[in-house]
Amino acid sequence: MAEMDASRSDQAMQRLRAADFMVLPSLLLCDFGDLRREIARLEEAGVQALHLDVMDGHFVPNLTYGMPIVEGIRRLTELPIDVHLMVSDPAKYVQQFVDAGSDCLTIHAEIEQDASEVLQQIREAGVGVGLAVNPETRLETVQSALSWCDLFLVMSVNAGFGGQSFNPVALDKLSQLKESHPQLLLEVDGGVNTSTISACHEAGARLFVVGSAIFGLADYRIAMEQLHDALPT
Ligand code: DX5
Ligand code: ZN
Repeated sequence: MAEMDASRSDQAMQRLRAADFMVLPSLLLCDFGDLRREIARLEEAGVQALHLDVMDGHFVPNLTYGMPIVEGIRRLTELPIDVHLMVSDPAKYVQQFVDAGSDCLTIHAEIEQDASEVLQQIREAGVGVGLAVNPETRLETVQSALSWCDLFLVMSVNAGFGGQSFNPVALDKLSQLKESHPQLLLEVDGGVNTSTISACHEAGARLFVVGSAIFGLADYRIAMEQLHDALPT
């Protein structure tokens, strides 16, 4: 297992914070039979960080992968690894995901546990701290947890599957958070493509998670260029 490296995670978070905008491919639709090649293709396309979607088949009705894949990807790249935990009991796995080489762990506000406690646990484990909300979750319900966060992930689809349509309720949340919590790193996830990315940027998002609009194209470099071209220069 990869050793936890606090300076690596700190540097990764600094890289995320320093970016005016960054497109993070969501490794949900990639070729898991050839991860080495997929990571190389993404790096060649100019990708600056990766987003890994962990689903437990319980918090969401879909099952993906866990620590061994994070650990395997860690050995393939030095890019920051942003891990989105769509699991019912994230507290149980925080240390294992940190040991596997995650640089930032994002949990969902909709879990049954007290999210603030898990966020504190992530902070103590020495990696970036993120909180996510599904489209139907109101920001009022997460106010007390926000002070623990480096990153806030606004879901623009219901967590669980790639390839869904963008829900504009995310834009209102991003705009509100940009005003109320300017120190938060704002990330948006779900249905982000060349048609929706610029509205997300305008609303305050700086990190854009993209699945189908990258992995649906044969050439990831062209996909990245198209997404960047859709953003204001
Ligand atoms: C959904 C995941 C997303 C998703 C994005 O639960 O968190 O990261 O894979 O995929 P697209 O861009 O296809 O919506
Ligand atoms: Zn995600």
